[in-house]
Amino acid sequence: MEKKIGIIGSGQVGIALANGLTRHGYDIMVGTNDPEKYMDIQSKTHSAMRIGSFEETAKFSDLLILAVKGAGAEEAVRRAGIDNLKNKTILDTTNPIEEIAPTNGVLHYFTSLEESLMERLQKVAPEANFVKCFSCVGNAFMVDPKFGDIKPSMFICGNDDDAKTRTRHLLDEIGWETEDMGKVEAARAIEPLCILWCIPGMIRGQWMHAFKLLKLY
Ligand SMILES: NC(=O)c1ccc[n+]([C@@H]2O[C@H](COP(=O)([O-])OP(=O)(O)OC[C@H]3O[C@@H](n4cnc5c(N)ncnc54)[C@H](OP(=O)(O)O)[C@@H]3O)[C@@H](O)[C@H]2O)c1
Repeated sequence: MEKKIGIIGSGQVGIALANGLTRHGYDIMVGTNDPEKYMDIQSKTHSAMRIGSFEETAKFSDLLILAVKGAGAEEAVRRAGIDNLKNKTILDTTNPIEEIAPTNGVLHYFTSLEESLMERLQKVAPEANFVKCFSCVGNAFMVDPKFGDIKPSMFICGNDDDAKTRTRHLLDEIGWETEDMGKVEAARAIEPLCILWCIPGMIRGQWMHAFKLLKLY
């Protein structure tokens, strides 16, 4: 399993994953465009956390996690350097959230049900192996989610089977049951799960939940 994980993005998701995966023994680099954020990132992680540009983070990693604002995701992939992403597994946490107020707790997306954000990213870097992951749960639960005896479901998808196997191994280790929904187009169904996940929070202030797929097979 890859030990060097690069996280492109230093928001709540980037920081939660950096701290959680460090606990599991991974060597982490957090990427930001903004050198003025280095001190802030260090104060939220540990003082020896590696921090670099998106490009340095991509070069450092065996496996990458993309954790940037949806509207900046294509730009972030370009800044990481398309050549640095060749044949690399990239766990894509992003959601295409439009920057306008939700309607009765329902977020607006800038994509449609005919084209997900991850399909756009896969077109920007055709030789990278994107896997949708972590997009449908709050950052507090991304590593070692605790729901009593129940392991929550993480819905993933992507074109490369080997990349999905690597993703499954990581998810097994950090407390998730993986549900593979197929190829990149399945992101059209997975990304909107974030809208559903956020509604109880937006309308009732309840944010402590995760999805579980119940199966009779
Ligand atoms: N928050 C959650 O619990 C949660 C849960 C599931 C999925 N997600 C998804 O995960 C992603 C990250 O969310 P977040 O809450 O951690 O933070 P966020 O505020 O959505 O993203 C922060 C990061 O986005 C980068 N960024 C912003 N605009 C950019 C642009 N135009 N070009 C390139 N990069 C840009 C910033 O770069 P700099 O560091 O250079 O400023 C920063 O690192 C989002 O797509 C979100 O929908 C979030």
